[in-house]
Amino acid sequence: MGLGMDDRFNTIAGWTLFGGIVALGLSSLSAHYYGANKPERPETMGYAIEGVEAEGGAGAAAVLPIANRLATGDVAKGEAIFAKCKACHTIDQGAANGIGPNLWATVGEAAAVGKGGFAFSDALKAKAAKWDFATLDEWLTNPKKFADGTKMSFAGIANPQERADVILYLNSKGSNLPLPAPEAVPAAGAAPAAGAAAAPVVGDAAAGEKIFAKCKACHTIEAGQPNGIGPNLAGIAGEKVAGDRGGFQFSDALKAKGGVWDDATLDTWLTGPAKFAAGTKMTFAGLPDAKQRADVIAYLKTKK
Ligand code: HEC
Ligand code: HEC
Repeated sequence: MGLGMDDRFNTIAGWTLFGGIVALGLSSLSAHYYGANKPERPETMGYAIEGVEAEGGAGAAAVLPIANRLATGDVAKGEAIFAKCKACHTIDQGAANGIGPNLWATVGEAAAVGKGGFAFSDALKAKAAKWDFATLDEWLTNPKKFADGTKMSFAGIANPQERADVILYLNSKGSNLPLPAPEAVPAAGAAPAAGAAAAPVVGDAAAGEKIFAKCKACHTIEAGQPNGIGPNLAGIAGEKVAGDRGGFQFSDALKAKGGVWDDATLDTWLTGPAKFAAGTKMTFAGLPDAKQRADVIAYLKTKK
C-alpha cells in the first residue's frame, strides 16, 4: 500500500500543522516560565510560529508515522482496546470465527484469505492487501474508507496511539513480526522549509554521547567532576537554569533567564546559546541540526 501523492502531501501538511501546534504549546510554556516574574515576553521566543501554515491540511489529523507510534506503544493497553473487537472477533489460535474472522497471526498475512473459510466481502478481497503495520493502521482508522463495502461494520479507532497499541497486541498473537524502526522527523521549532515536515525528533543517547565530544572542551558530565570553562552538567535535565553548579560563576545573562532545563529550553539553548541568552559566557555556536540536539539532550538525560 503506497501512499498517493495527495496522501503524502496531507501527511506532510499534517506534520507541519502538528509542528505548529507543538510550537504554539511550547511558546506558551516558555512564556509561562519566562513570564512568571516579568510582565513582558522575552525578545527572542525560542519557537517561531510564523510561516507555519496548514495549507492543504486544514483540519488534517496530526499523526506521527506508525513506526514511531508502535515504538512508544503499549501491548497491555492494546489488549484492553481489543475488548471493542471481541463482539465480532476471536484472537486465540484455533478459536472459531464469529461475525468477523479469527485474528490469530493476522499481522503480516494477506488480507481476506484463509481464516477457516470465512466469507470475506468482495470489497476487502478486491483490495488484495497485505496486513503490514501501515496497512492495518489505515484499515483500523476507517474500515469503510479502506474498503468501501466491507462487512466490518465498525467505525474505526480515531486515536492514532490506540490504533498502534491494538496493532501491537494483534502482532503479539501469533505474528511477532519485528517492529519497524521509528522515522526521524524534523524537529518542531525549526522553521519549516518549503515542503519540510516539522514534528518532534526522537533522540538517541548513544549518538548524543559522540556529539558531546564537542562539549567536553568546556564541560564535565559525571557527577562529582569539577567545573571547567563551563559548569559540570551531571543531572542538568530538569534543573534550574544557571542554578547551583558547585559555585560556578554564571553570566548575568543566563542567570536572568530563570526557568528550568526542560527539553524545549535545552533545545532552544543548544540551537544558539547567544540567541537564547545574549551575553552568555558559553562561546559555542550551537548545533544547527535538530536531530543532533535531540541526541545530545537524550544523552544529558542519561547522566543523573
Ligand atoms: C461489528 C463487528 C466487528 C467489529 C466490532 C470489529 N470487526 Fe474486524 N472484521 C469484521 C468483519 C465482518 C470482517 C470481515 C470484513 C470483510 O470481509 O469485509 C473483519 C475483518 C477484520 C480484519 C481483516 C482480517 C483478514 O484476515 O483479512 C482485521 C485485521 C480486523 N477485522 C480487525 C479488527 C479489530 C482490531 C477490531 C477492533 C478494534 C475489529 N476488527 C472490530 C467485524 C468486526
Ligand atoms: C567553549 C566552551 C563551551 C562549549 C564548547 C560548550 N559549553 Fe556549555 N557552557 C559553557 C559556559 C561558559 C557556560 C555558562 C554560560 C553562562 O553562564 O552564560 C555553559 C553552560 C551550559 C549549560 C547551562 C548549565 C546550567 O547549569 O544552567 C548547558 C546545559 C550547557 N552549557 C550545555 C552544553 C552542551 C550540551 C554543549 C555541547 C553541545 C556545550 N554546552 C558546549 C561553555 C561551553
